[in-house]
Amino acid sequence: MEKFVIRGGRPLMGEVNISGAKNSVVAIIPAALLVDGPCKIENIPEISDVRILIDILKELGCDVEFDNKDSMMINSQYVRSSTATYDMIKSLRASYYLLGALLGRFKKAEVAFPGGCDFGFRPVDQHIKGFEKLGAKVEIDHGVIKLEAERLIGSQIFMDVVSVGATINIMIAAVKAEGTTIIENAAKEPHVVDVANFLNAMGANIKGAGTDVIKIKGVTTLSGGATHSVIPDQIEAGTFMIAAAATKGDVTIRNIIPKHLESLSAKLIEMGAKVEEDGDWIRVIGTEKILKANIKTLPYPGFPTDLHPPASVLLCLSDGTSTITEGIWDSRFQYVDELKRMGAQIKVEGRMAVFDGKPKLSGAPVKATDLRAGAAMIIAGLVAEGETEVYNINYIDRGYECIEDKLRSLGADIVRATK
Ligand code: EPZ
Repeated sequence: MEKFVIRGGRPLMGEVNISGAKNSVVAIIPAALLVDGPCKIENIPEISDVRILIDILKELGCDVEFDNKDSMMINSQYVRSSTATYDMIKSLRASYYLLGALLGRFKKAEVAFPGGCDFGFRPVDQHIKGFEKLGAKVEIDHGVIKLEAERLIGSQIFMDVVSVGATINIMIAAVKAEGTTIIENAAKEPHVVDVANFLNAMGANIKGAGTDVIKIKGVTTLSGGATHSVIPDQIEAGTFMIAAAATKGDVTIRNIIPKHLESLSAKLIEMGAKVEEDGDWIRVIGTEKILKANIKTLPYPGFPTDLHPPASVLLCLSDGTSTITEGIWDSRFQYVDELKRMGAQIKVEGRMAVFDGKPKLSGAPVKATDLRAGAAMIIAGLVAEGETEVYNINYIDRGYECIEDKLRSLGADIVRATK
């Protein structure tokens, strides 16, 4: 097992390039199963979720070739299997996208229940509601979700909750359905738009992605032969923005879409940081005093839940009492006990954490309890006095490409070591 060893107290200075978006590419790769021919995907992040997904597609019969570090060709023409076993998908939360892709391609799918990060129960009832509305019969048997449809018929679907995964999954399944599907109360995240753009590049007919009403006109085939470049990862970018402010550094984050980070930029300015932006970069300059703030996580364009754990480190160091209210997940507070080991003063009441800001954190051995909590532990280690060891970093490798190299290039003292 590996760990990160971090010596804190050094401000991050310089420039960092952001990789392709994990939460976009983990949907686009399965969606390539719909394409009856080769399709090229560029700006792919080098993260373990991508490696696992590529292995799954190869097991299903896809031809996958990387033509350089971050771009690959996928050809699903000769795929015949519509079954993804537990062994294939067990360490991947986003395995549910295989349901929509295999159903859309074969009108049947058998996928074991998703695994991945565990913070509160992660249901898939809205995914299933959408598949049933499209005409699929759904059976759940020994941890496997089985879908089968005589025909997939376009339908009007009102989402009971705003769900990124369900919105994308239903969109994928509806691409080749007969007639038009309308998804109402849809998620508006940038990765929803990115997946829609990929599918349209392959011949789909999707309108309205990025709004709360998405219209999908069924087509008979997706011809492929096009190229799609994955959008930059707004959560990776936000993680570096927060680290710059927390370490009182001066960092320019490049290859991003600043609009995707508006809620965080506004919050960092409210907390006293300087934020400049233009074109495809944002510069964050931390200041001596971090002002207290209240954060509430909401669906896009609200403050993203995936930046809740990283942002909590800023609140630990802020001047006064701050709060984070988690508006998306039942419980995303497992990181709190780890920060308390570093001297943070935090109280969790239901979906709210109350932070009594302190000037310092002290280094300690801590563990990543999930992907974004792991990012929070790294940021805490960067600002803490002394040495911090972060364990369970396999979580972090799921969603951040070479994070220690990128941080070292900004002056951080961080190394990957074996336990
Ligand atoms: C995606 O998860 C992301 N993962 C999560 O990021 C992110 O936290 C989440 O969206 C919210 O932005 C990927 O994209 C792979 P949801 P997803 O469906 O799609 C409830 C990370 O760190 N819900 O938008 O699973 C659910 O319980 C990960 O990169 C239902 O009730 O999230 C939650 O309260 C962590 N029924 C809310 O909706 C359903 O069928 C939002 O969940 C589905 C969801």
